[in-house]
Amino acid sequence: MPGTSSEIEDLRTQLRHHEHQYYVLDAPQITDAEYDVLMRQLQKLEAENPDLVTADSPTQRVGGKPREGVAKAAHSSAMLSLDNALDEMELRAFDARVRELLGGAAYRYVAELKMDGLSLATRYRENTLQQAITRGDGSIGEDVTENARTIRSLPLRVTAERTFEVRGEVIMARKAFERLNTERDAQSLPRFANPRNAAAGSLRMLETSVTASRRLDYYAYFLLDETGGPIFDSHWESLDWLAAQGFQVNRRRRLCDTVEDAIRFCQEFDAERDNLPYEIDGVVIKVDSIPQQRQLGYTAKAPRWAIAFKYAARQAETEVLDVLVQVGRTGALTPVAVLAPQVVSGVTVSRATLHNEDEIARLGLQIGDRVLVERSGDVIPKVVRVTQEGEVRRPFVMPTECPVCGGRVVREEGEAASRCINLNCPARLKESIRHFASRGVMAIDGLGDVLIDQLVEQGLVKSVSDIYALTPEQVAALERMGAKSATNLVENIAASRKMPLPRVLGALGIRFVGERTAELLADEFGSLDRIAGASPEELQGAQEVGPKVAESISAFFREPHNADLVERLRLAGLKFDHVVKKKEGGKLKGLTFVLTGTLPTLSRDEAKKRIEDAGGKVAGSVSGKTSYVVAGEEAGSKLEKAVSLGIPILDEAGLNGILEPSNT
Ligand code: IVH
Repeated sequence: MPGTSSEIEDLRTQLRHHEHQYYVLDAPQITDAEYDVLMRQLQKLEAENPDLVTADSPTQRVGGKPREGVAKAAHSSAMLSLDNALDEMELRAFDARVRELLGGAAYRYVAELKMDGLSLATRYRENTLQQAITRGDGSIGEDVTENARTIRSLPLRVTAERTFEVRGEVIMARKAFERLNTERDAQSLPRFANPRNAAAGSLRMLETSVTASRRLDYYAYFLLDETGGPIFDSHWESLDWLAAQGFQVNRRRRLCDTVEDAIRFCQEFDAERDNLPYEIDGVVIKVDSIPQQRQLGYTAKAPRWAIAFKYAARQAETEVLDVLVQVGRTGALTPVAVLAPQVVSGVTVSRATLHNEDEIARLGLQIGDRVLVERSGDVIPKVVRVTQEGEVRRPFVMPTECPVCGGRVVREEGEAASRCINLNCPARLKESIRHFASRGVMAIDGLGDVLIDQLVEQGLVKSVSDIYALTPEQVAALERMGAKSATNLVENIAASRKMPLPRVLGALGIRFVGERTAELLADEFGSLDRIAGASPEELQGAQEVGPKVAESISAFFREPHNADLVERLRLAGLKFDHVVKKKEGGKLKGLTFVLTGTLPTLSRDEAKKRIEDAGGKVAGSVSGKTSYVVAGEEAGSKLEKAVSLGIPILDEAGLNGILEPSNT
């Protein structure tokens, strides 16, 4: 089809631009959903025209192409490490040596943050990324090109025609690191000890789609030509050039006229360290002039023109006095070490998180042991390792009853966390209400986070069921509540009594019981009482319910606090019986759609007619009642609103997908 290839190139250019704005400049110009729409258009065109797929297409960032084993590759010139300066005196000594070797000529320094990750060399030829190699032993590294492609802040395409090589640091930002470890807890996999290990492990994965899911970042800090020689006369200029080519170059960098300026930079960022979105372990100070760098040359292991100023370790040794348990919002019990108070780089530390039982086992930790603790960012300190077993030591035992409510504690098979399964546990109550009121569940408009906090903290709601007893006067007396919105809320709560049994079942928040399972259970058993009274074996009689889900449901109803909640909800007048409806009306009956933007083939009237023919409604504006937003090109504020409300978004293909007659 003529024009397709230029359409593809146009989409790629747009996507590259937006990736750069988002991942490198941190200044997105379009919403994620709009980005997704562009990406889907490109994916579709590429799927239809496989010949036109190129390695530098933004679609290639998702990984999937597995690496074929571990291939080694040689570096164009050695990747050296740096000498360290452990204090300001050592920095001044470095400066004195530089001054002497340069024989009185004027010189300047560039100060950059020393990011704590792993170094990676990337080669570009004919405008595209050709190869990425880890440091390895400095002369030979591992070829990780396919993995590197998945790093969103590493350009796959550049404007410069020339051949060049970039060296930089692959890191994992703190947020991505926390998220990864939380996911690993949920899968009972061991946690990564720090972002550097997580980044290194993720980059070297043979399964590149796993690398893609890990959200790595790349910061460029060095530029070479194909022979390992320089391109510019100044390092500062090289960094600016790299930024102009689309690389992420740390903007926290400074041109310094004297070593004292560089020392100030080190001090400033030592104080700022905890507030940065990534971990740093020091500052790298480099002579700016590249002719002068060559004049200074190298020792056997490091350049004479650069030095790494290392920050003091944020670790210290202390004793574990006890291990307590905290109950989180999801009922998860987190063991916390109580420590003999110890100052770690200026801050007194007396507690450290131990995450879960597996982590304690991994550390081999017992109460009474001496441990190394580490402080990083504002987060609660963590135990790195046991340094010495206590003379008197005793193992930590996870309680079988919740320390907050006395409810039963359960550790499901295959889970790292032990949980309090009492839905009314105060620590869980807020989260439970949030779930209960949410859109796909009881859909109570207006019962948001701020309100839930107040209701629980003021003792107005002690059990989820108490919301049905709230009066407009009680609600109106809360902060930031008017009489009108209070009345609306109480009406919305009352209206939720009409929600069908699958919603009520979903609202209980039983682990593994989502919307679909709730419907299948309701269809099979016909009432909540029959579900609650069923044995795990009987529960498995329902479609798609396996032993794990059955056991979870059964354990839920056996817990007396939950049985009590069920009774209260019955008294509040919720629907416990289920009428299995005969399929009537169209497929989209009960669903409300909003159309926005231009669809590739359907006109707006055609799309509207198809939805209405299938029993759906089409509304003009997006609200909490909207089921789907169908978005085409140049979709604007409606799409944004849908994203902010968490309403699912369909493109034309997606709409056709739900209009198509299904097999069941
Ligand atoms: S310059 C010859 N700049 O620190 C140039 N390194 O011990 C050598 N690092 O292996 C590297 N941030 O992995 C340089 N802004 C930065 C850096 C940096 C982190 C790492 C790099 C290197 C190690 C040096």
